[in-house]
Amino acid sequence: MKPLTPYIIIYKDQIHKNLNNFCNKLKFKTEEIFYPVKVNHNPEVINLLNKAKCRFEAASINEIKLLLNCGINPSEILYGNPVKSKHDIITANNLGINHFVADSFKEIEKLSCFAPNSRIIFRIEVSNEGASWKLTEKFGCSDAEVILIFEEATNKNLNPLGFSFHVGWNNKSTFNWEKVMLHAEDLRIKLSKSGRKIEIIDIGGGFPGHDENSEIYFEDISKKILPYLNHWRNLGIKVITEPGSYLIANAGILYSTVIEKIKRKEKYWIFLDTGIFQGFYWILGGLKYRIKNESKGNPGELAEYVITGPTCDSFDIFAKNAFLPTQTNVGDIISISPAGAYIQSAKNYNGFEYPPEIVR
Ligand SMILES: Cc1ncc(COP(=O)(O)O)c(C=O)c1O
Repeated sequence: MKPLTPYIIIYKDQIHKNLNNFCNKLKFKTEEIFYPVKVNHNPEVINLLNKAKCRFEAASINEIKLLLNCGINPSEILYGNPVKSKHDIITANNLGINHFVADSFKEIEKLSCFAPNSRIIFRIEVSNEGASWKLTEKFGCSDAEVILIFEEATNKNLNPLGFSFHVGWNNKSTFNWEKVMLHAEDLRIKLSKSGRKIEIIDIGGGFPGHDENSEIYFEDISKKILPYLNHWRNLGIKVITEPGSYLIANAGILYSTVIEKIKRKEKYWIFLDTGIFQGFYWILGGLKYRIKNESKGNPGELAEYVITGPTCDSFDIFAKNAFLPTQTNVGDIISISPAGAYIQSAKNYNGFEYPPEIVR
């Protein structure tokens, strides 16, 4: 029986298609892909990627435990959160994790004490120009710092392997992608000149996957960055990557039902049975999603609507000016996409639980 709305369908075929395309265009083996669990932590998605021989990037102990419960070997997990509590490092070490990301002396200090001899990748700060959601400032050390931290890690019985970065979410700027590759190459040269052996360069995520024309941008980006990846590969460096949205975003579609249609102050309002506080918080930061009436095969004449959710909150608005068929009625099924990335996983985001409430 068809489940009642709202629900999100994740289309496995689309994930396979995205994965194949990603690997073909950038010449990656699936073992070099570290899928970031924060993007979609559905065990079926994890199992699919595990069967395809991908590896995993985890942001928290809960995500690590989820991966272990799915049968993933600890050696295939990168604990990618650059700042972890002492307690979480000890737990990860006890769970068999020995591959960590760090971006500060403080983190090196903790890792050397509580996860000695582990393998370390340093997160560096890179330009996020052109990204739809920037991931700078909070993380990433400067080039000068990374050279010093590399040395510190070696002295402290850790095993520094290389560096990672993130160009920012949904970055369609080929100009910025190339700028970041040049930056990475410059850092690689500096590190080798200072006697450091680079075994890994992790180019992170940020590949466009949100907009309808993402594939065109991805093609252009691939052409620009592939020569850099091949250059590093020819030097014997292992290039790894953490694509999330590119693999999963367009594989998911939310289906919702119109519960009411009301005219208010010259505007038509469509109320749905799910809202932005059910995983689409990103809209508050300016992200846009595609909205379609699935019940009207032939859309006919269109009208402008405010698309809102069922909660008693005035910010619960998917779009202020969506064009849907004039004939849109109560009971129609509305699809919202892409809904594969960061929607279900917005609950307990990155594996961090909501704080329990204690009533006294
Ligand atoms: C460390 C890390 N890697 C990869 C990703 C995935 O990025 P994207 O969805 O842009 O591919 C993220 C997203 O926040 C991240 O924090």
